[in-house]
Amino acid sequence: MSVFADKLSLTLHTLRRIEGEFSPAVFASSLAAEDMVLTDLILNNQLNIEIFSLQTGRLHAETLGMIERVKAHYGKDISLFLPDEQAVNDYVTRHGLNAFYDSVDLRKECCRIRKVEPLNRALAGKAAWITGQRKAQAATRTELAIQEDDVAHGMQKFNPLADWSEDDVWHYIRSNAVPYNPLHDKGYPSIGCEPCTRAIQAGEDVRAGRWWWENPESKECGLHVVDGKLIRIRAASVAAE
Ligand code: ADX
Ligand code: SF4
Repeated sequence: MSVFADKLSLTLHTLRRIEGEFSPAVFASSLAAEDMVLTDLILNNQLNIEIFSLQTGRLHAETLGMIERVKAHYGKDISLFLPDEQAVNDYVTRHGLNAFYDSVDLRKECCRIRKVEPLNRALAGKAAWITGQRKAQAATRTELAIQEDDVAHGMQKFNPLADWSEDDVWHYIRSNAVPYNPLHDKGYPSIGCEPCTRAIQAGEDVRAGRWWWENPESKECGLHVVDGKLIRIRAASVAAE
């Protein structure tokens, strides 16, 4: 088997193991390329893993459009989690709609309200959650393991694509005609909220367009960081099991 076929087989094995041993499990989808690979694997293999997306209220129209495209392609709904309306109103009233440009603290507070708190609601009562993170995506992800002990949420966290390269992701998408966010063809390898994501130039780091006014070390929104630390407690190799 090719290296890619091995990776794909391990990823499917991981997803089947999550479904079998960590029910109920959920998959957090930002509707970007990596997440569409996992969506395709979960839905085509009819795995009992719920897919949800955090609708921050600041996403691009193209990203929102992916919800309908998933429905049309797979006949399945993605569950949506919205921020607490009062918390958003209070933030906007006190600091302004786009106060995240003013300081890292105000940026993190916006992410806490629009992403982290809704994530906690999405994960309540679950045994495991799944993300589309990859090691090669960011300076903060080089140690990423396929399975982690997420003590903050009291459950296992899986990153089945941890060892996939960007080429692997696009190879899978093109070979399987997976629908993908059109922004990827317009210079956006990494997509978050609209005001916090810009297109990148050739040669720039793939995450250069995310929170581009901040240092690379602070470029995490809190979904994968707790109290300033990455959640890397136990790295277990699913391949060995
Ligand atoms: S972020 O932390 O910088 O925002 P990134 O965009 O790289 O994360 O996405 C990494 C993973 O976090 C995604 O594959 C997905 O599992 C999860 N994620 C990010 N944004 C969302 C979102 N809006 N809804 C659900 N999951 C998300
Ligand atoms: Fe707010 Fe930007 Fe974070 Fe989205 S990415 S929640 S708009 S600070």
